[in-house]
Amino acid sequence: MARRGPREVTFEVTDLGDDGLGVGAVDGREVRARNALPGESVSARVLKRRRGVWFGAADTPEAASSARVAAPCPNFPRCGGCALQHLDYGRQLEHKQATLADLLGAEGVAPGRWRAPVSGPRFHYRYKARLGVRVVGGEPLVGFREGFSNRVARMTDCLTLARPFAAMLPELGATIAALREPDRVPQVEVAGGDRDFVIILRHLGELDEADLRALSGFEGRTGVRVFLQSGGYDTVQPLAADAPSSLTYAVPEFGLCLSFLPTDFTQVNPAMNRRLVQRTLLALAPSPGEHVVDLFCGIGNFTLAVARLGATVSGFESAAGAVARAGINARRNGLAGRAEFAVADLYDARCPTLPDADCLLLDPPRSGAGPNLERWADSSRLSRIAYVSCNPRTFAADAARLATLGFSLQEVGIFDMFPHTAHVETLGLFVRGGVAARG
Ligand SMILES: C[S@@+](CC[C@H](N)C(=O)[O-])C[C@H]1O[C@@H](n2cnc3c(N)ncnc32)[C@H](O)[C@@H]1O
Repeated sequence: MARRGPREVTFEVTDLGDDGLGVGAVDGREVRARNALPGESVSARVLKRRRGVWFGAADTPEAASSARVAAPCPNFPRCGGCALQHLDYGRQLEHKQATLADLLGAEGVAPGRWRAPVSGPRFHYRYKARLGVRVVGGEPLVGFREGFSNRVARMTDCLTLARPFAAMLPELGATIAALREPDRVPQVEVAGGDRDFVIILRHLGELDEADLRALSGFEGRTGVRVFLQSGGYDTVQPLAADAPSSLTYAVPEFGLCLSFLPTDFTQVNPAMNRRLVQRTLLALAPSPGEHVVDLFCGIGNFTLAVARLGATVSGFESAAGAVARAGINARRNGLAGRAEFAVADLYDARCPTLPDADCLLLDPPRSGAGPNLERWADSSRLSRIAYVSCNPRTFAADAARLATLGFSLQEVGIFDMFPHTAHVETLGLFVRGGVAARG
């Protein structure tokens, strides 16, 4: 098949996209490349074409931007796990805040106040991840996918994975290579708690006795526990039948210890999660006697902190297992009297009416608050909304919806939950009335 364009292009980078790619144009066509910064002239191999845009990977230019640093990780830029390793860390924060500001501006939302970006550990912060597995020429690769491809990056270490996971990569590759059918292991997920580190090994074929012994040896050598997954998430179970299946993390600022299963949603970066919970509760400031509704509550990460401050709180979440764990966490932390949980599909327009509340806490998936936001905000009792977002686009769009409902964005700021990636985590506080937010 004839190629529909050149293998390599040279272009001036005019912008840094919200995906961390350097943006420019060649003959009027948009080009986006990894490892390219505004102000640089770069040569990039074209790796993908989609909807008229060419995507590629740039060679580091001789005349580099003053914002460029030597990427600390040797896997950059091939590994798709990080997009901004070549950008000075302070500039990474500026870029993320500017991305959010541009999106809010495009929606006509003017925040009352910008909070300074909050950051934490820059390396080895990642306690949750999905890694690809691929056997190439007999050699097993375990790692993040490469950019613009389904290939698994060749990596023997990782600067973002929590240390026990980064350190286990060679051992895990060797263990998978020794299995009877190594090419029937397509992925591994990792989940870490304060003390325990777990991998979930997805396997498409049967594992025999020798395989189970090999995996048990891996546990012994690395201290990382193995869970097996033969089908959907309901098939996940520990390799050692008598091993505990849950992990825990503490939020000491609120005297909380939460337990979770490796398949539950938990925030990727525990140190930043603690800051996020603290700042969210500081912004929302629920007082005893008030009622809070926590939507997309997971295992009770924010819910129980609200209850600890003396307010009553109702948490809603679609994952029944997480709701069960949230209830257990409430009891174990002595908060069952103030926190209750229910399963609900919050994206379903038929979702039942929520209890009346003084404050809402929203922490939705990337797709944002969903179709019921207007219904939730339509209560004269509701005075403030804390919105934690993992997608600045849907956050900005929802901020505009809230503005039309009379809620202004009183303050907003980014949390650097995923340093060196393009991911932007946001906390916004909306209050009824206040500054005019719609332009
Ligand atoms: C970003 S996580 C936040 C979880 C929790 N607030 C925390 O900090 O750990 C989003 C949560 O939304 C839940 N979720 C996804 N789709 C949902 C839906 N349609 N209805 C209710 N919850 C949903 C997920 O299971 C997940 O727990």
